[in-house]
Amino acid sequence: MVSGGGTNLQALIDCQKEKGLGGGEIVAVISNRKAAYALERAANAGIPGYYVGGKGLDNDEYSRKLDELLESEVKPDLIVLAGFLRIFSEEFSNKYAGKIINIHPSLIPSFCGDGMYGLRVHEAALAKGVKVSGATVHFVSAGTDEGPIILQKSAEVKAGDTPEELQKRIMVECEWKLLPQAVTLFCEGRLSIENGIVNIKD
Ligand code: GRF
Repeated sequence: MVSGGGTNLQALIDCQKEKGLGGGEIVAVISNRKAAYALERAANAGIPGYYVGGKGLDNDEYSRKLDELLESEVKPDLIVLAGFLRIFSEEFSNKYAGKIINIHPSLIPSFCGDGMYGLRVHEAALAKGVKVSGATVHFVSAGTDEGPIILQKSAEVKAGDTPEELQKRIMVECEWKLLPQAVTLFCEGRLSIENGIVNIKD
């Protein structure tokens, strides 16, 4: 699921082509924005793309609309939020517990939660003066960015960084590596959750 440029989606597409995704296959790309470049990346890779608009819908209504498509056509084993900027209803999150993963551009629990997305995350990290930041892949639960952590990777914050520079470094060094890795682990059946903690089998 995507909302924007889709560079994380591209990392998944490339990984599937080059190394396989642990046997997984990207069966559909769903966007809540019609103009998302990510949909073009999907088309270029021969992956069915869907636009599921959410204008005027609250999170419950949007989640139900999305679930209709998932149930009737896509039937996914895993839902990957690759830069998807909408929150799901509690009902949806619970229904797909352990089957939705998200990538967040900070080291959770820093700089996350409601309203923390895109450049705001990096602005907050710079305002705090942290010397490292990074990215986190986690399972999605009902609370924003609160689900069990799967993988994290850090990147250096350099003196004088702009939010854009930090965002780019974290994408290149962390996000584009972590998301394919986490999806691969899931598809290989190596992830389990126990008491809110993710175990990774060797
Ligand atoms: C990434 O920074 C991701 O962590 C965040 O949204 C951005 C998506 O970028 N959730 P892209 O669409 O994958 O290029």
